Amino acid sequence: MPQPTSTQIIEGQRQDWNRVAGGWEKWDRLFDEQMAFLNHRLVADARLHAGMTVLDLGSGTGYPALLGAQTVGPSGSVIGMDLAEHMLAAAGRKATRLGLSNVSFRTGDVTTLPFDANSFDAVTSRFCLMFLPEIPKAASEIARVLKPGSWVAAAVWSAPEMNPSIGLSMAAIKQVIELPPPDPTAPGIFRLAKPGDLAGMFQQAGLTDTTDQEFLADWSYASAEEYYTSLMEIAAPVQNLMAKLTDAQQQDVKQRILQAASNYRRGERIVFPMAVRFVAARKPL
Ligand SMILES: C[S@@+](CC[C@H](N)C(=O)[O-])C[C@H]1O[C@@H](n2cnc3c(N)ncnc32)[C@H](O)[C@@H]1O
Repeated sequence: MPQPTSTQIIEGQRQDWNRVAGGWEKWDRLFDEQMAFLNHRLVADARLHAGMTVLDLGSGTGYPALLGAQTVGPSGSVIGMDLAEHMLAAAGRKATRLGLSNVSFRTGDVTTLPFDANSFDAVTSRFCLMFLPEIPKAASEIARVLKPGSWVAAAVWSAPEMNPSIGLSMAAIKQVIELPPPDPTAPGIFRLAKPGDLAGMFQQAGLTDTTDQEFLADWSYASAEEYYTSLMEIAAPVQNLMAKLTDAQQQDVKQRILQAASNYRRGERIVFPMAVRFVAARKPL
């Protein structure tokens, strides 16, 4: 089968994430409560402070752009970019609810940044870069738009075995239908899981002082059902695989996922370990 072109991958991403935007808004509270620490870590790694002009790549429904805007305050500003206009519409509604007038959202592919060189005091990105067909090109663009001495900070998923809440759904699907072995260079959730991968791309792009740290945490759900339902409503890549199944196969996968999730019961809740890779780098002075 011919490989999809970069343009086709990007268009697929746009459609996928637009399709799940309603799910992201529906489950926002649950995920924000549990993943706010990621935003704080990115804000720290990117060295945000009052008055800065910040670019957030793949903002989705506003993370970490909203915390970035609160951190840089009224004398600073944040631009959040994303392919998916419906995700950004949700981000815009949150900004309004929070009374933030220093954050704006615009649609676009983060591989081609529509900004002049040396425009930003920092770049942040949470769970976006692994979905790009041309990550090194995005790294070069980040290096171009950063001001000398400024930082980029990105969060990407670490290895599937360290993230069973994502990995077990994939494993359940693979038990029911044969999937081609994953191409480790194809865009996807775990594309940047390998230590040093993204950091190496930042270095290749001319950035220095790279750090690459795996951060371990937990996230939890009220029940296996809550886990399953939220996963299916927000995880576009998992939804895509489920769409390949018949109704009976989907029911089979659901039962397998519920069963596997129940192995993570701790007291009243289902608690999964998670592992996120934080990668930061700086543009030389
Ligand atoms: C998993 S979501 C993460 C959203 C948000 N940063 C968060 O952590 O909640 C991935 C986001 O990356 C966006 N994305 C994927 N490829 C992109 C590209 N080439 N340019 C811009 N955004 C992209 C998707 O539209 C989606 O909103």
